[in-house]
Amino acid sequence: MNVVSRALCAVWFLMFSYLIAHAQSPVRFLEAKKIFVLDAGKVSYVFGINEQNMLQHIYWGKHVWREDDFTTAHSLPQWASFDLSTTTTPYEYPGWGAGLFVEPSLKVTFPDGNRDLVLHYVDHHIDGNTLTLTLKDIQRPLLVHLHYTVFPQTGIVRRDAAIENRTSTPIVLESAQSAAWYLPQGEGYRLRYLSGRWAGEWQLTEEPVHSGVKVLESRRGSTSVQTNPWFALDRDGNTDSEHGSVWFGALGWSGSWRISIEQTAHQQVRVTGGFNSFDFGYHLAPGETLTTPPFYAGYTDEGIGGTSRVLHEFERTEILPNGSGSRARPVLYNSWEATLFDVNEGGQIALADKAASLGVERFVMDDGWFGGRNNDHAGLGDWYVNPKKFPNGLGPLIRHIKQLGMDFGLWVEPEMINPDSDLYRKHPDWAMHFEGRPRTEARNQLMLNLARDDVREYVFHWLDELVTNNDIAFLKWDYNRNFSEPGWPEVPPAQQKNIWVRFTQNVYDILDRLRQKHPKLEIESCSGGGGRVDLGIMRRAEQVWPSDDTEALDRLTIQHGFTYAYTPHVMMDWVTDVPNFNGRSVPLQFRFLAAMQGSMGIGANLNHWTPDDVTVAKQMIVYYKSIREIVQNGLLYRLASPTQGNLSANQYVSSDKSQSVIFAFLHSQQFGRGLPSLLLRGLDEKAVYQISQVDGKPGANTSTAPLNLSGAYLMNYGIGLKLAGDYDSVSFKLERISE
Ligand code: GLA
Repeated sequence: MNVVSRALCAVWFLMFSYLIAHAQSPVRFLEAKKIFVLDAGKVSYVFGINEQNMLQHIYWGKHVWREDDFTTAHSLPQWASFDLSTTTTPYEYPGWGAGLFVEPSLKVTFPDGNRDLVLHYVDHHIDGNTLTLTLKDIQRPLLVHLHYTVFPQTGIVRRDAAIENRTSTPIVLESAQSAAWYLPQGEGYRLRYLSGRWAGEWQLTEEPVHSGVKVLESRRGSTSVQTNPWFALDRDGNTDSEHGSVWFGALGWSGSWRISIEQTAHQQVRVTGGFNSFDFGYHLAPGETLTTPPFYAGYTDEGIGGTSRVLHEFERTEILPNGSGSRARPVLYNSWEATLFDVNEGGQIALADKAASLGVERFVMDDGWFGGRNNDHAGLGDWYVNPKKFPNGLGPLIRHIKQLGMDFGLWVEPEMINPDSDLYRKHPDWAMHFEGRPRTEARNQLMLNLARDDVREYVFHWLDELVTNNDIAFLKWDYNRNFSEPGWPEVPPAQQKNIWVRFTQNVYDILDRLRQKHPKLEIESCSGGGGRVDLGIMRRAEQVWPSDDTEALDRLTIQHGFTYAYTPHVMMDWVTDVPNFNGRSVPLQFRFLAAMQGSMGIGANLNHWTPDDVTVAKQMIVYYKSIREIVQNGLLYRLASPTQGNLSANQYVSSDKSQSVIFAFLHSQQFGRGLPSLLLRGLDEKAVYQISQVDGKPGANTSTAPLNLSGAYLMNYGIGLKLAGDYDSVSFKLERISE
């Protein structure tokens, strides 16, 4: 190396060291002002230690570069001095004490009856993108460790609280929340949330936020179909689907949960969420720590469309297990709607042959393969292969499926037990119950008390054996009812309410251990349809089942709501037979294009398909495989909502803007009424795209000669639709070309 090169190296080294030394960490403590700045990319989240030595919220929203702007003094409501400071000060994690009467983050009862809790800052620790703060009651050694993790790529902040009992006696936690989030002070906020029912999940509700408390919750022991733990808030009138400020969040918990949206008398909107405090009473033994579910929240200035895209990216990159968020989901066949419980080796092989010839990549046998399971009255709990239906076990079926080039998946419902089962006859005490009280059945089944460690071990071992002894690539993990009589007679009365937490912790434990032991195993979370979709289960499941309503027109609305919170990557959808359960018959291509908007499967009885059906299906599957990467991993733009008119359309764009796919559906034709052109989004204005079309007529795939148009034209003038009649559909694929 000559002198010049050496000198250059030295300069580079110095510059590099300088950059490393001065690169700002995403989590910073401004010592002089006692302020924590969380720099989440385009988002700033700021709070500080105030004069009372308590953690006070300062700022959450679009990134602010000037740290001098932040001070705890600014974030106090104007009229604060007229009220108890505990109620008007936006505390990061308020204990219930000193007169607090807004939603507390933590409420406890000490054994002597004392219920006053005032949490003061003790210390903090920064480790990369994670900040841990310790708070302590002003008098007693009850500690709270608050965790904040920043994800700069998406602007999401993850929070939870670990509550540690360092006293020498048990403490009852009446309410243990993960976080309180504060929005800029003022009125006029609008709340969006997702609610529904069995076979009608994911209905988007929008309503104004008024003074008082709006509670979104599940008291049912699981996530629930009634309400999903997701919220989005914006200022009505200031946003549209692609512009304006939206604050949003989602809980990562598959047990009973609660999110309250509260507008105080001082026009402060605050969101608190975590474990549902209904019947909670968690018994925290001396030395024990309870960690709350993670509460993830974010901000975007790109409207509600931007909210979904941020969440989709976050879920794919940070939540889904084993990097599955970047891998393509396989095309799946599921036997449920074709055979119901009537499964056997010959019947499944016949379906598998047909599925493989269409281009299916994974064959899943649903309910009915085990114990005495001929209908939904018996068998849950007896997880051995039914010898009449499969005299040689599952081996021959699985081998056949593998020879066809597909992998094999199986349905299980591990948390349940039918009273008509050998397991129940042997262990009636394993079912969730209160001693001496009736046991309420739902779908003829009871729940196992998985809070019990012996029951947890039993379930883990049969699952482990099943996956070890059979070449199973995928489990559809179902959960078809919710808690009733949540008793746990085997532990002292004071500890029995811990069932609400322990049950879900043990479900997670089984899934985690199973996945660790079988790293290639993939899992779908299903719960009587879409009852268990949340960021907790999604850490352990590659895909989810949004609804038992598989009818394509209904499904458009279900999928529309689903994608507000969750990525199309995990959104399973099957093409099924017509007339569907609601009596409607839509063309096969409409059904395929509807199902292609997420992770596609087929759930029809292939024995009944005509040669024409088979031709359409083959073409559709080839088409899907050519676009699934864009759909599953791209950016979603909603062009026309199925809830607002006769036409619905979605667009997906690859992250580098080089490809896009559009799906449009005409629900019914009104005589003489033309269709609006679709204004596309998210393209490169300067690029030229080649457009090819799947035109919605049976048997036709890419039809008319490709058309070339610029991104600018497509986004400002749009693309014309030639749809007619009822249930017509079309898909366009766009590819950037160089001209
Ligand atoms: C639930 C699921 C269905 C099917 C049945 C089997 O209802 O949502 O897809 O698996 O159970 O019993």
